[in-house]
Amino acid sequence: MIPQSFIADLLNRVDIVDVVGRYVQLKKGGANYQGLCPFHSEKSPSFTVSPTKQFYHCFGCGAHGTAIGFLIEYSGMGFVDAVKDLAQNVGMVVPEQDDKIPPAQRAAQQQQSMALSDAMSKANEFYRAELRKAPQAIAYLKGRGLTGEIAARFALGYSPSGWDSLKAVFPDYENPVLVEAGLIIQNVDEDGKRTKRYDRFRERVMFPIRNTKGQVIAFGGRIMDQGEPKYLNSPETPLFSKGSELYGLFEARQAIRDAGYVLVTEGYMDVVALAQMGFPQAVATLGTACTTTHVHKLLRQTDNVIFSFDGDKAGRRAARRALEACLPHVSDDKTIKFLFLPAEHDPDSYIREYGAQAFEQQVHEAMPLSQFLLREAAGEHDLTSPEGRARVQFDAKPLLQAMPPTSLRLQIVRGLATMTQSTPGEIEQLFELAKPVAANKKAPPKSRREQPVGLELKLIRVVLTHPTLALELDDEALLAFSHFGQEAAERLVWLMVQAQSLGEQGSFAAFCQLVKETGSDYDALIGEIAAAPEPDLEGERLWLLATVRHLKMDALKQELDQLFTAGLSSEEIGVRYREITAKQDQLRKEAEAELSPR
Ligand code: UTP
Ligand code: MN
Repeated sequence: MIPQSFIADLLNRVDIVDVVGRYVQLKKGGANYQGLCPFHSEKSPSFTVSPTKQFYHCFGCGAHGTAIGFLIEYSGMGFVDAVKDLAQNVGMVVPEQDDKIPPAQRAAQQQQSMALSDAMSKANEFYRAELRKAPQAIAYLKGRGLTGEIAARFALGYSPSGWDSLKAVFPDYENPVLVEAGLIIQNVDEDGKRTKRYDRFRERVMFPIRNTKGQVIAFGGRIMDQGEPKYLNSPETPLFSKGSELYGLFEARQAIRDAGYVLVTEGYMDVVALAQMGFPQAVATLGTACTTTHVHKLLRQTDNVIFSFDGDKAGRRAARRALEACLPHVSDDKTIKFLFLPAEHDPDSYIREYGAQAFEQQVHEAMPLSQFLLREAAGEHDLTSPEGRARVQFDAKPLLQAMPPTSLRLQIVRGLATMTQSTPGEIEQLFELAKPVAANKKAPPKSRREQPVGLELKLIRVVLTHPTLALELDDEALLAFSHFGQEAAERLVWLMVQAQSLGEQGSFAAFCQLVKETGSDYDALIGEIAAAPEPDLEGERLWLLATVRHLKMDALKQELDQLFTAGLSSEEIGVRYREITAKQDQLRKEAEAELSPR
């Protein structure tokens, strides 16, 4: 776990306006910034970012959160990655959750990845500039139907001829970072001595691969004439892993939201050509089979994924691999479809030959996952023979077992049953699908605890808004919360203690982040606070102190009332009586001091 104190510190140092501003155009309006909400489509801005609260909130769709939450929601990063990203921007080093990595090494790693990413973006700028100077490369791209606008959108470039062109941007050509980044190849002779050192990419049209933050992490370079390999790719580096990156995802994100689906293709040119022809919602796997990581990443961006495969045999195989990668992620509120183009076509060639409308039609007619799965299971088997039907079931078994127990799985089981002259029950039994879902997967029964109201709600609201105020509460204050009954008292004490744990760094944003991670359900209240006008810290501080004083008074009065029936000796009663009345006096004095003008 990343310590909460670190998160609080981080949220104090980053400015959410900068973070959101990287992705959303914001305009200052009063105390807040406003823009078009990236989480739903709208024409007039109802998305606000508050610099004082360090929180964003959309009045249209209710989306809200901290800078960390924004990155998670917007770019599909995981929590840890989002924290790392923000930390990197403000020069903080995230204490790793596995303490195995010593801090010195961690700092070194972080420095290395910064150096790599720096080298990649410099190289990209160089290649882009070279493209402008390379008429043959421009002609090649034009010949493939691309405009300058699209080339700019994808930051396409050109790696010139020559073995060490990169010297122009990296005078320190010997720097090992260049080899680690995969920009330069270092040959080594049999004795392990370093020999030739040269640019990896030469005379190729360069496709930069960007991560979800927009940083260049790798390249694909296409040869312009015949030759091998057609595409040369960056090697795996600390920045780049083929199995989890998707080409074009950064560029396509907004379009995916607008279109409501993502189109997954197999090639660089497919993505770029589709964008050119009016389908900017396309991405591509990078010459590898689609992995579950890819699918997971895609489903974080949208509920609808449409795979498009080339009409050849290799395309078929790729589709099968994609199907397998999807099965663990199947859920009833997501749809996954498969589009098969006619043989000899990929999306690029298809849309050029038949046009955007024909392609749109293909998208429309894409085959749902259920149908594709059944078709895969059926294969070429003879459904008229018992052996053939048994074989179909045999082939379907691992596919169905890979699926979580969803309605869709049930539907497929039904289809399979009909196809193989069985009953769904028989199949479920045979495939052992009916095993109860692991107990821990079941959602815990929603405790029907009462929602906080009135004074309790106000206390929660004040401390959520200003967690540092909790530092002014002593143990007696926490005890006095028993006024609200046991359940509410526990809830309040937990919240106050958590707020105190943030220390002086405590802020609304940090506290929301903490509360969110512990899974406590204050989301509605947090939304309200985010939407509310700027809070008045001093006013709420006075209110809190006064309220706590009242609660303490109540508790003392109650104790006093019961003192004589509590079964104490008269001496004990006397001692306690004096204690209680002294405390009451003390509280009254505090109240008067608070009220009298200073
Ligand atoms: P294709 O051979 O189908 O190429 O490879 P393409 O995408 O249609 O490219 P164009 O239209 O001829 O320019 C599909 C994908 O496989 C990877 C690339 O990601 C490519 O886009 N690939 C292919 C390589 O990485 N290296 C290669 O040599 C070939
Ligand atoms: Mn192609």
